Amino acid sequence: MKIKFLGHSGFYIETESGKKILIDPFLEGNPVAVNKSTDFNPDYIILSHGHGDHVGSTVQIAKNSGATVICVFELGNILLEEGVKVHQMSVGGAYNFDFGRLKFTIAHHGSSYPDGRYAGQPAGILLFIDGKTVYHTGDTALFYDMKLIGEMYKVNLMIVPIGDNYTMGIDDAVKAVEFVNAATVIPCHFNTFPVLEVSPFEFQKKIEAINKKCLILNPGEEVKL
Ligand code: NI
Ligand code: MN
Repeated sequence: MKIKFLGHSGFYIETESGKKILIDPFLEGNPVAVNKSTDFNPDYIILSHGHGDHVGSTVQIAKNSGATVICVFELGNILLEEGVKVHQMSVGGAYNFDFGRLKFTIAHHGSSYPDGRYAGQPAGILLFIDGKTVYHTGDTALFYDMKLIGEMYKVNLMIVPIGDNYTMGIDDAVKAVEFVNAATVIPCHFNTFPVLEVSPFEFQKKIEAINKKCLILNPGEEVKL
């Protein structure tokens, strides 16, 4: 699969079978994004939680493309009211989609829709696609159960927030990668706004010190997994 960083927590995945998936497409209003929502025609949009910097342009993209939004039950109810197609799940549950399997994990964070409506629990996203396992933690604090994820699955790629303030900062994110024992890590949720300013190179150094690979992607850059 190909994975493109969209800035903040946003990613775009193209599977070997040609399925197109957006994760947390915060594009319009994102000061570091290089893509617009009209650049994408996804089959699916996966949302980690209801905050505006994750839901982003979901409604517009879903309406234009006919994409199915995959998210937790309560956020799904809101999006149904907005008139988009949804597949509702809950934290801890997994489902086999035509692109692969998706499981929502716990995440310690909040979740409300930008207008204040309750959006259910925040989630992390475990993806089993093309024989690889990708774990996007979503917005979260460090939590010890990440160790369990590492015990149960061989995570090829982990995507972690490092911007601190609203999520894990650098040192907690390094510990998270240790817990999960991920082979490769991509940092996200940093340097989008002044409050999230950290050095990804400091994170990279600390990840390399525990013998893991750290890929720092600029918005618009992609990697093959
Ligand atoms: Ni959030
Ligand atoms: Mn966020």
